[in-house]
Amino acid sequence: MSKTGWPNLDESQKMIQEQVRALAKAKIAPVAKELDETGRFPTEIIAEMSEMGLMGMMVEEKWGGAGMDTVSYAIAMEEVSAACASTGVIMSVNNSLVCAPIAKFGSDIQKEKYLKPLAQGKKLGCFALSEPGHGSDPAGLKVKATKTQGGYTISGTKNWITNGKEADYAIVFATTDPALRHKSICAFIVDTKAKGFVVSKLEDKLGITASSTAQLFFDDVFVSDECLLGKEGEGFKIAMTTLDGGRIGIASQALGIARCAFDASKKFASEREQFGAPIAKLQAIQFFIAEMALRLQAARLLTWHAAVKKDAGEPFTKEAAMAKLSASEASNYITDKAIQVHGGYGYTKEYVVERNFRDARITEIYEGTSEIQRLVIAAQELAKD
Ligand code: CAA
Repeated sequence: MSKTGWPNLDESQKMIQEQVRALAKAKIAPVAKELDETGRFPTEIIAEMSEMGLMGMMVEEKWGGAGMDTVSYAIAMEEVSAACASTGVIMSVNNSLVCAPIAKFGSDIQKEKYLKPLAQGKKLGCFALSEPGHGSDPAGLKVKATKTQGGYTISGTKNWITNGKEADYAIVFATTDPALRHKSICAFIVDTKAKGFVVSKLEDKLGITASSTAQLFFDDVFVSDECLLGKEGEGFKIAMTTLDGGRIGIASQALGIARCAFDASKKFASEREQFGAPIAKLQAIQFFIAEMALRLQAARLLTWHAAVKKDAGEPFTKEAAMAKLSASEASNYITDKAIQVHGGYGYTKEYVVERNFRDARITEIYEGTSEIQRLVIAAQELAKD
């Protein structure tokens, strides 16, 4: 980044950028193609990332985390995702959708029991909000929580759950009374070894193939009262607050995917010759390169701006939605044009841009579609008037 003016990274942010970039280059990028082809969960990479504190970056050190800020998290997410977008989302879900809500809303007992091992990377988490009939509209979710002696029984089906196959703990959102919509939703920390917890289906996907996307079936899963996260009826706000932070993570993932495609395009354009000269000499290609650079940097500034606001303790719902919207759309534009720059080569699996193109697509869908981000931005703007 620039040596003058914002955004100036501080010494610890620069250090994390260098360290994660080095890890990504040495350990993640070399296996990313194999991970994509086989769909293998990158166990050995997650172990190394855990050693570096990357699985609980923003969690206080006393609870097993690295005690870093959101800007550092965004930087690390971009570096990991530039090498492998599947590894990026595994990291993002554990950090922003699982550790973050327990750190913010959990009791000390929950932090000791669940947050510590999750933040240390000894355990992995997933976030179970979406359902077959409730993606963009989680207030209407149907998974039922029934009060019983000493706890609750959870029943129903969750869909599209990242890390769902490998997770040790799941943050599960369930309703005590569907008629009350968001006011009756509760958040629970569920041990995936609990009786009745079933991974009922694994999705076969276009991209991010090394990260699992699971359907989870809850066959009357009992959770004790101490597994309730926050208070009864607070679950929807916990989900929304958590997704605000999650959207910074996905924006950063989108930036990483886009940067990989952009770098590959510049290299290819400088080496590939047509009409007697490198295609980088052609204005048509230069216009693509300029537009890619512009959209990448604009999205990065919006993403870091949202992170800075979050770190300052200021409201950042709108900024996170803007970051996610601009970075995911930039990523889809850039990976598409990267294939165009590469021509026929870009359409083959020999070139990384083919994987980038497939991986970018989901960033406009999960953790709130681009249409949902526009609704969030508009609601925030109109609320001011
Ligand atoms: N922070 C805190 N509270 C919030 C909030 C936020 N960002 N957004 C809304 N709320 C509160 C409101 O203030 C309101 O509170 P009151 O009852 O006190 O008034 C309450 O929540 C209901 O708000 P709305 O009426 O605005 O809620 P809504 O039902 O209209 O929904 C929405 C708003 C923005 C469309 C929301 O449903 C949404 O974000 N949808 C997208 C869901 C999503 O992102 N899903 C992704 C699934 S997770 C995933 O992809 C995980 C993975 O594995 C990668």
